[in-house]
Amino acid sequence: MCGIIGYIGKKAAAPTIYGGLLRLEYRGYDSAGIAVSDGRKVRQVKLAGRVNLLEGRLSALCGNAGIGHTRWATHGAPDDVNAHPHRAGKITIVHNGIIENYAELKREALALGETFLSETDSEVIACLINRYYRGKILPALKEACGRLRGSYAILAICEGEDGIAVAKNKSPVVIGCGADGTYVSSDIPALAGLCGEVCIAEDGDYAFLTAEGFEIYDGALNRVSRPMQKNRALPEDVDKGGYPHFMLKEIYRSPRAAEDTVRAFGGVKQKFCKYAEGTGRVILAGCGTAYNSCLAARRYFESFARVPCEVETAGEYRYKNPVITPSTLVIAVSQSGETADTVEAAALARGRGAKVIAVTNAPFSALTRIAGLTVPVAAGFEVCVAATKSYTGQLAALYLMAKALGGGDPSPLEEAPSKIKAALDDMDICAVADMCVHSRGVYFLGRDLDYATALEASLKLKEVSYIQCEGYAAGELKHGALALIDGEKTAVTIISDPALAGKCENAVEQVISRGGKVAVITTLAQVASAFGGRAEVVLLPQCDKYVAPLVTAAAVQVLAYRCAVLLGRNPDMPRNLAKSVTVE
Ligand code: G6P
Repeated sequence: MCGIIGYIGKKAAAPTIYGGLLRLEYRGYDSAGIAVSDGRKVRQVKLAGRVNLLEGRLSALCGNAGIGHTRWATHGAPDDVNAHPHRAGKITIVHNGIIENYAELKREALALGETFLSETDSEVIACLINRYYRGKILPALKEACGRLRGSYAILAICEGEDGIAVAKNKSPVVIGCGADGTYVSSDIPALAGLCGEVCIAEDGDYAFLTAEGFEIYDGALNRVSRPMQKNRALPEDVDKGGYPHFMLKEIYRSPRAAEDTVRAFGGVKQKFCKYAEGTGRVILAGCGTAYNSCLAARRYFESFARVPCEVETAGEYRYKNPVITPSTLVIAVSQSGETADTVEAAALARGRGAKVIAVTNAPFSALTRIAGLTVPVAAGFEVCVAATKSYTGQLAALYLMAKALGGGDPSPLEEAPSKIKAALDDMDICAVADMCVHSRGVYFLGRDLDYATALEASLKLKEVSYIQCEGYAAGELKHGALALIDGEKTAVTIISDPALAGKCENAVEQVISRGGKVAVITTLAQVASAFGGRAEVVLLPQCDKYVAPLVTAAAVQVLAYRCAVLLGRNPDMPRNLAKSVTVE
């Protein structure tokens, strides 16, 4: 959701910032821009489209201090003018977030005779700082922020003044020192290999960076200290590692995500059991893929712990008047730990007295600061916008939590890494991908846990291939979607539960008899032989039915990936989407 980066030090700023923007591109890729100060003048380049379009323009930017931005458009079209940085007088800024009262501020500025070039909300920030500037940028930035409503991570530089000023509210900011200068960024991976330690700024913080280091200030501009964290991001985390796309690399890291998450849970299990003691009701909340992992986890909590469990999309939960009792446990699931809706849903629940657990892949994220306890997803950094290995990690963490709550034996999960690996090594899903890309619509069908996988399969396929698709409970097919089935539609049915296999086979038969194209993804040999020759069948390793979602997920992720590649899409950067949605 927009990536920002700043650097000041001994190196040339433009290539350093450009390299950082390439690593932050998963946060938005509608446009990109860089501004660099040579101590006297600030020059900038900005263009609609991908970051790499800037490469040929970097020589125009001389100097050792600068700021950069990669945009996911919210206000104003994704064109050159609306691209960041934005400038007013001597002030140049980049911004991640949304300024909710920008229209009112813009009206006020226009009445004062100030002018605007773009349609963005962000330009008012530059305008306000410029208005309040009295020779020092940090106090001017603070005064400007006092007028803003909304979320922001802002980097600001001023012509003729050394240093980068920073403000943070609800959008992430990390700061670190390297051997050759000081860095600030939206996310830790952008600083991989550059800073050994990073400081995670808190809401309401300001900071000022010089070539020698940085200071953090509170809302009254008093110096405060924030702990430094080891930067766990390695350069290989942000490298494709020989794979053609991050998506494929990350799918192949799923066995490791499951394994590492199991290990990490060992470290928090006792704390979890203590924190969750007395739980009478579980509410699971998340967005996108994290929401789908919650749908599967509902079955885990109901089956293993026998507690009533509800699932909510975080964006809906935060705007209802939820029933929370002292025995309510809210589990907020988020890969990034920064998704605005999930963070706000968790804050609402905590504020009303619920126990709140964060299940996240980002140990220092906003969500972890709200939650009473964090259960780690140890999937490693995920770069592809479409979540893959983090979904596997979320399922593993939630499985273990449900088992721990119910006092059951978690050992079936130990087979997950080897089963996922075997599935990835042996399966051939190309024929199904071919069928999907030649269809005018794809329906993913499943029952119970396979229904959650069907929804995730549909989300993954639409995200990266743009094929029209839907996930359906297999039993619901005959109540509506069957009307749409014809020779141009494909139904992909996921079957992993022997007890439900017969019922799911009925759904497949119904599609065959209406002339639809049919594929079956199954962990059951008897299902594979029932449809041999009548459907495209993908047989996965047989496994425990509660472990199966981790294995079938790998198959549907590869299917989505193959479809994207067949259609010539870039699966790592789906159009209009961003990985970390830090705005509403
Ligand atoms: C965006 C991403 C999805 C992700 C969702 C939730 O929509 O494109 O891949 O599942 O946000 O993100 P989170 O970081 O909260 O899991």
